[in-house]
This record gives sequence, C-alpha cells and structure tokens, in this order.
Amino acid sequence: MNTTPELQLALDYVRLPSAIAMALRVQEYVDVIEIGTPLIKAAGIASVAAIREVCPHKRVLADMKTPDVGALEAAMAFDAGADIMTVIAGASIDTVREALAVARERSGKTVMVELTGVRDLDRIAPEWKTIGVTDLVFHREWDAEIHGKSWTDDLLREIRGLIEMGFNVTVTGGITPGIIPFFKSVPVTRFIAGRAIHATDDPVASARALREAIADVFGRP
Ligand code: 5RP
Repeated sequence: MNTTPELQLALDYVRLPSAIAMALRVQEYVDVIEIGTPLIKAAGIASVAAIREVCPHKRVLADMKTPDVGALEAAMAFDAGADIMTVIAGASIDTVREALAVARERSGKTVMVELTGVRDLDRIAPEWKTIGVTDLVFHREWDAEIHGKSWTDDLLREIRGLIEMGFNVTVTGGITPGIIPFFKSVPVTRFIAGRAIHATDDPVASARALREAIADVFGRP
C-alpha cells in the first residue's frame, strides 16, 4: 500500500485570473488543486468551474467551509466540477449529514470536515464517525499562526488520535518543506500548501521541494 502523503495546492486568491495562471503553472506537480475559500467568496462558484476546466485531469477541491445548508452547498460545489468539498467543523451534525447525502448520490465525490476553529474535537469526532465522515482537514489557522500558534506535540497527538479513530487526515496551515519531518510519526493522507507554493518566486520549484520533502520523510510513491 502506498502511504506517501499527497500534495494539494491551495489557491487562496481574490482574483480568478491569477488563480488560473497559478493552477496552469503548478498542476503537474501536485495531486489536488484547491479553490480556496477567499477565491470562492471573491469570484463565486464559477471559480470552481473555471479551475475544473483548466485542470481537467486533476482532482479539484472546493474549500466551501460550509456552515449550514449542507445539501445545497455540496450540490453547488459538485455541479461546478469539484470532486471534494469541505464543511466547517462548527456546522451542526445535520449539515454534515446533508452534505454527505449529496456526495453519496454521486459517484466519486467526497465531503471533508474542516477543523478550523474547532473547540470540542473529543465530543464531535465520534459523531462524525457515526454518520460516515471519512476525511478531515486538520488546520493550524492563518490567524492563529499570526498570533503565535505553532505546530506542537499536542497538535500531533490530536492528529494521531483522529487517524487511530479511522479518519483520513489532511494537514494544512503554513506547511513548508522544513516542517514536513515534524509529521513523520503520523500517517497523514495529504498535505495542503498555499503560500509555500504560490507566494514564492518559483512556484514550480517550491512544489517540487515540498514533494521531495514528503518523499524524504514518508518514502517515495
Ligand atoms: C486558510 C486556508 C488555506 O488554504 C490553508 O491554510 C493553506 O494555505 P497556507 O499553506 O498558505 O497556510 O484554508 O483558511
């Protein structure tokens, strides 16, 4: 079984042309392309369709971070061409259930629960398990990063606990090649990187460096 984590590019832009240009440049070097929440807010659901169109052979994730109206927002994302969409962890269990139901009606679609801001993981994670959630995004939030939150052993323990519960855990939030060895002891499914790719002078070299760091730590695919 291949256990090398995948790499996802997060397109956190507010202008669609810039996002399209970056997707075209880097898609070959990543496994999944994410339409970031700011881009969806700025350019609408059409941004998902646009990235789908220019990256026809990539999995596309719409980072909706849906807080309510789970069925409608999941349908919007999937109808626009997303393979994966996210629901925010603070949404009610019914919102997660509604989004999951839409994914199940279609083939090959996934709902991920996005852990931004989650405060009661121990209580809520078993509920997600019970209703059939398979995939989580473990997020060290941008704003928390700005205010000094770093990747710590406590966070690593939380990630390990979720994996031991049977979830596929994707990790994000200021991921750089230098931080990848920190995650060596946890079999994460995928790393998401935004700024460490698109905000660098050479995004292709940066994506390759991330892939290389992942392979060095977890083995080559
Ligand atoms: C912010 C996000 C970002 O997409 C995620 O944090 C990845 O971006 P970066 O690698 O720049 O932190 O969801 O809420």
